[in-house]
Amino acid sequence: MAEKIVVTGATSGLGRALVFALAEAGYQPVPTGRNAQKVAALAAELGVAGYTLDVSDPAAISAVSAQITQELGPIDGLINNAGIWLEGDFETYSAPQIQAVIDTNTTGTILMTHALLPDMLARGQGTVINTISTGALYSRKLISVYAASKWAIRGFTGCLEVECAPKGVRVMGFYPGKIASNMYETAGIERDLDMAMTPEQGAAMVLAMLQDKGMVWSHVSGRSINDYV
Ligand SMILES: NC(=O)c1ccc[n+]([C@@H]2O[C@H](COP(=O)([O-])OP(=O)(O)OC[C@H]3O[C@@H](n4cnc5c(N)ncnc54)[C@H](OP(=O)(O)O)[C@@H]3O)[C@@H](O)[C@H]2O)c1
Repeated sequence: MAEKIVVTGATSGLGRALVFALAEAGYQPVPTGRNAQKVAALAAELGVAGYTLDVSDPAAISAVSAQITQELGPIDGLINNAGIWLEGDFETYSAPQIQAVIDTNTTGTILMTHALLPDMLARGQGTVINTISTGALYSRKLISVYAASKWAIRGFTGCLEVECAPKGVRVMGFYPGKIASNMYETAGIERDLDMAMTPEQGAAMVLAMLQDKGMVWSHVSGRSINDYV
């Protein structure tokens, strides 16, 4: 039976490329996303079950995770990919903007893991891959809150890596550089992405991490060769 891999934020960019790459590689992707219409269209395109899931909503995380497990059986992998961007001088951010970034990128990732990891640990197998960012490797101006949201997940991922590996579950972090996706535009930021990696290139990296079952690729980073200027 095909391994079932839950992907959050699968309706665009890296997540979308990933669910197609997973299907191509023989997995059963379980696409999830915050927009019900987009999820339904994507699930139909892939020919699999999809689930509407806003990761900034803790109640939705527990309800939908339980529903997924009940309907599909044990889950073999979780890719925490949903994320939003926030850029600008820190003092210009509104409190709701700050809250949304932390709720989505940080708390969403932690609670999704909290919902699906216990069953993997009980079965002594499984994989969690968190999409982090090079923003969690360096300090840069104008991205204080986005970086904070991802630095938190860098710590979370590293600690779970060493906690869970002896129990047979791999927890790994993917730290991509710029991806040519909708992320900046959705946040109202204009960005030239001609030099960025494609979502498909990013998805190929995540797939390689997932497939190499005997290894824990703990901190995997990469960016397009064109993105060195
Ligand atoms: N783009 C980059 O340069 C870059 C670089 C490093 C790391 N990353 C990270 O890569 C991941 C994927 O981003 P991307 O570049 O593919 O951006 P994207 O094209 O904007 O895709 C982000 C996905 O997350 C979904 N999403 C946003 N908030 C959500 C929520 N509350 N609940 C569920 N889904 C939600 C979006 O849904 P909608 O389709 O409804 O908008 C979309 O499907 C993110 O974690 C991002 O931080 C991106």
